[in-house]
Amino acid sequence: MKESLNAEAVKRVTQTRLLGQVVHYWDEVDSTNAALLRLIKEGAVEGTVVVADAQTRGRGRIGKSWFSPPGVNLHLSVLLNPPIQIGEARLLTLIGSLAIADAIETYGVKAQVKWPNDVLVTDKKIAGVLAEVQARDGRVAHLILGMGVNVNIDRASMDRLFADAAAGATSLREALGREVDRSAFAALVLERLEKHYFDFLSAGKRPVLKEWRSRSFLGRRVSVREEDMHVEGVAMDLDEEECLLVTLDDGSSVRVREGEVIPIEKGARG
Ligand code: BTN
Repeated sequence: MKESLNAEAVKRVTQTRLLGQVVHYWDEVDSTNAALLRLIKEGAVEGTVVVADAQTRGRGRIGKSWFSPPGVNLHLSVLLNPPIQIGEARLLTLIGSLAIADAIETYGVKAQVKWPNDVLVTDKKIAGVLAEVQARDGRVAHLILGMGVNVNIDRASMDRLFADAAAGATSLREALGREVDRSAFAALVLERLEKHYFDFLSAGKRPVLKEWRSRSFLGRRVSVREEDMHVEGVAMDLDEEECLLVTLDDGSSVRVREGEVIPIEKGARG
């Protein structure tokens, strides 16, 4: 398949008012989030997008790296300046995962969101979101929303490159049985992100949370790892700070701020 990922292609097909009016593209960059941080220092405006074919130091959540080989996936960061308190910034991660799930569903593939930042297809991770925030006086000054999506990577490459994580990963190509144009996919993500972002700015967090809940794994049994804690229970809901509340078998609850949460198949306890 002949596809081209570049700034012009993304801009040409993106129908938005704010996001993606300025697009920077690199064949290779350390991290699109890091590149956008550098652009902020040069005065980048809200909605500025950085896209890269490959990343040499792609960043994941909780200090993990994000594997970003050339020619296959989407690595995209967007600059947002939401007028919100720092404590509300987690909402934007949820919005990012909803936007990716919407874009995937445009291709007829069912996608779920998983707290705090993942998108799943057939229970396997297809995308992750990393929000990095600069704060001033307790408010968000800049928020870099970085999104990594396994678009065209094939099963053999995932097995070879993702090592232990390969079994829990999938791609849009694997789900669809064909490749997808990454610029067109990036445009869909930006359009859906803008819609959810504008809805959030005008109507607050309620509609976002309602939609996130309806497409999430809440109600399922999960395994939770956070620092020294390793427990199993049922993912019940988000609290007012978008932390995950999990009810354990003894009826007690734990509040998960940053941990790793893995849905467990029915009958796979222990
Ligand atoms: C995660 O699931 O751990 C989050 C992964 C986020 C990866 C994306 S790729 C584009 C952007 N640039 C980065 O360095 N990270 C994010």
